[in-house]
Amino acid sequence: MKFFADTADVADIAELAATGLLDGVTTNPSLIHKSGRDFMEVTREICALVDGPVSAEVVALDHAGMMREAEILRKIADNVCIKVPLTIDGLKSCKALTSDGTMVNVTLCFSAAQALLAAKAGATFISPFVGRHDDNGFDGMQLIADIRLIYDNYDFGTEILVASVRHGIHILEAAKIGADVMTAPPAVIRGLVKHVLTDKGIEGFLADWAKTGQSIA
Ligand code: G3P
Repeated sequence: MKFFADTADVADIAELAATGLLDGVTTNPSLIHKSGRDFMEVTREICALVDGPVSAEVVALDHAGMMREAEILRKIADNVCIKVPLTIDGLKSCKALTSDGTMVNVTLCFSAAQALLAAKAGATFISPFVGRHDDNGFDGMQLIADIRLIYDNYDFGTEILVASVRHGIHILEAAKIGADVMTAPPAVIRGLVKHVLTDKGIEGFLADWAKTGQSIA
């Protein structure tokens, strides 16, 4: 499963990129606002930090406006992936952009039927929001399983990008279902490394090592 960081924080992205864990980045208008940075400038910096796709979202709601914004965004770098909302205009823009060789991430997906439409429109990625789905009393992971089944039934090449990830269990369950990608806040990705027995093990080894009076030099 590919790991994307769901953030516009350049320091976090640089740190994760150095671990070799990072396959891409997703941003959205809320994350740009949180970063306090200029959209174009920060997107350019992020694109230079990672080799993989960097999602940058349009804010126009009509097809012509989305295409205008996409034209500006895709000039930032070759790894920009245009993010469009799951609306008729968004799907229309998805079709036009992917037919032209541009990566497209169709976002704000909350049903398997919506995911089917995105695949038919040639989306590179579909972003089902599992956390927000759970928050509203639905089963986010069932949504991922349904999309996986439908995409496999028809051999759609659209990659399932699990978004709105809140904790490690979301990542684990998504991997078990066979989602292609997950995007999570850096803190959630870093949290995957934590285990109480790992910490306890390090503590025990260091205590015994100190008793040997040796050093590695
Ligand atoms: O990038 C889209 C998505 O991951 C947003 O997550 O936590 O705002 O529901 P969240």
